[in-house]
Amino acid sequence: MNDYYQVSAQPPLQGQIDISGAKNAVLPLMAATLLCKGKSIINNVPQLDDVATMAQVMRYLGAKVDHQGSRLTIDTQACHGHQAPYHLVTKMRASIYVLGPLLARYGRANVALPGGCAWGPRPVDLHLAGMQALAAKVELTHGNIHAYAGKLKGVDFTFSTSSVGATVNMLLASVLAEGTTRLFNAAIEPEIDNLIDQLNAMGANIFGKGTTTLCIAGVDQLAPTEINAIPDRIEAGTYLIAAAMTRGRVRLNQVIPAHLTALLTKLSDCGADIQYDQDSITLDAQRQGLRPMSIKTGPYPQFATDLAPQWMALCASLPGITQITDHIYPDRFQHVDELNRLGANIRVKGNSAYIIGSTSLSGAPVNASDLRAGAALVLAGLVANGTTEVRQIHHLDRGYHNLASKLMQLGATIQRDADDTSVNVTHLSLCG
Ligand code: UD1
Repeated sequence: MNDYYQVSAQPPLQGQIDISGAKNAVLPLMAATLLCKGKSIINNVPQLDDVATMAQVMRYLGAKVDHQGSRLTIDTQACHGHQAPYHLVTKMRASIYVLGPLLARYGRANVALPGGCAWGPRPVDLHLAGMQALAAKVELTHGNIHAYAGKLKGVDFTFSTSSVGATVNMLLASVLAEGTTRLFNAAIEPEIDNLIDQLNAMGANIFGKGTTTLCIAGVDQLAPTEINAIPDRIEAGTYLIAAAMTRGRVRLNQVIPAHLTALLTKLSDCGADIQYDQDSITLDAQRQGLRPMSIKTGPYPQFATDLAPQWMALCASLPGITQITDHIYPDRFQHVDELNRLGANIRVKGNSAYIIGSTSLSGAPVNASDLRAGAALVLAGLVANGTTEVRQIHHLDRGYHNLASKLMQLGATIQRDADDTSVNVTHLSLCG
């Protein structure tokens, strides 16, 4: 059986919803619990397939994982394993986050290589170079990363490219290394800050939070702790774009507006009225005529690549010519052909898409090629005439908690259905 969403064109979205915890924050927080023995707690954890996959990886390593509501308990007392096998890593590339902690804790790790994803190659060379710099021996054989080390040794390491995942892995490995590690050109995404808060609460000594230079004074051991995952800025951004596209008025609760500055600035430039306080954002696009705006993605605090497909849906639905350039993933345009099936006029050249927007999208069956591509198609369905059927929505289940019910809470007409006649699910599902 394959589930799909039926999305209908409708009046402006109205109302308010709560934003869930960030899956991209939760996954490193989960991996960090491997660094010590005992029971760690992570709050504000959404029930998502990616979280379930990471829980499977943790269980494979011997941890007990219990996810009740939004509270996740991980007991690593009986952990013994040091392997993350291919059948789990291929489901979700962030499984590679166990590499650093396993190496730091047990002196060895055997993790399957994640491979590419639906929008092209996604190397892990920086993760591996980082482990080697910490004095680990790294071998690649039979599609696996085999890493060994006695005690990891602190080092000065510069990331040649800003990488969220490689920064996560280096933090997770270096906190238990001997001596001091300095990381240059580290990623500064809010999810990294969340991880640093957790690690420091566990007893680590990490300095420089929020900057591209991190200094980690290694410690001998860490202790379990309790931490709250930050709100999901990509989920929040998706609903803000949906509100703008439908000319609605929507309030998001449980958000950190500062994490969304690039998007809020662009939405405001488009003509939407944005009000925010400490933990809520209200977008009002009811009265204004909106115009599309070009964007370029980049590392935080620049416009997030994970919001570029949704932004493309917005640009496709507003009259005007725009350009979307992805500097993080130059091939991330699998959603273009599907948006064009809905009547959009988008051409791709190099790492840019050129969009001739119009208000005449029309509903059709479309396939989600990955998580955010799926979100873009659902958003387009909200403004396309008739009904849009979005298939391959297992991708959306990886990253959007209660997508349909949250949209329905805002007045959308969206229904989850299932049939057994659609094509086999063959797309890789490890993007995002
Ligand atoms: C994370 C996010 C993903 C988001 C991406 C960019 C998680 C679980 N996923 O992915 O949703 O789209 O950040 O914001 O948090 N690179 C290398 N070598 C490496 C690693 C990365 O060249 O070893 C390159 C990538 O190809 C890419 C850039 O660095 O061009 C940034 O990627 P990175 O920040 O590592 O993305 P992820 O951590 O995989």
